[in-house]
Amino acid sequence: MSQNPYPGKFIVFEALDGSGVSTQIELLIKYLKEKKIKVHLTAEPTRYLIGGLIKSWLSNDWKSTPECLQLLFTADRAYHLEKEIIPLLKKGITVISDRYLFSTLAYGVLEIKDRQWLFDINKKFILPDFTIFLDVSPEICVERIKKSRFSIELFESKEKLREVRKNYHEIFKKFKNIYIINGEEPIKEVFNEIKKIIAEELKT
Ligand code: TMP
Repeated sequence: MSQNPYPGKFIVFEALDGSGVSTQIELLIKYLKEKKIKVHLTAEPTRYLIGGLIKSWLSNDWKSTPECLQLLFTADRAYHLEKEIIPLLKKGITVISDRYLFSTLAYGVLEIKDRQWLFDINKKFILPDFTIFLDVSPEICVERIKKSRFSIELFESKEKLREVRKNYHEIFKKFKNIYIINGEEPIKEVFNEIKKIIAEELKT
């Protein structure tokens, strides 16, 4: 994995499902636009063809091996970088992605024990300039999911989320520029924390 060599800043948000991260990202986009910063919001799995295959897998429409799923996440990422993220970073636009390769490392090991393989298939990708992890307990996440949806996707049981959270914390020790913030505070307070990080990193 290499540093982002382009003029635009690449920011990643990571969190457990049900953490409320989308609300925070929406607030941030609005805030940056008000400050006249050119910003682009994106997400993984993407809205492109491979992202669609992943979403239909996660909704139990089809299935293959765990390796196949991880290769799809990685292929989706390669396409995402080439077609969307890198062209924008080259133009100096700030790109914010809701999930990126840390999701593969944290969720993938639930089914793939070979961590090195998961790392290796992501090796060619650029790293974000910084990552914000919204830390919320699995108990709260599951409650929030139950309130907002009828069906629970593949990775959303409490035990699985517990393991994923542990994985995130382990992985983040190995990377630089990771901000872990408490996502259990009220929305406004969480957002204030995010604004502080953004002010420091983007010099806004
Ligand atoms: P979403 O709910 O944020 O759209 O993400 C869908 C699910 O996919 C979520 O449970 C996290 C999982 N995921 C992975 O397991 N690996 C990945 O690389 C990505 C991007 C997501």
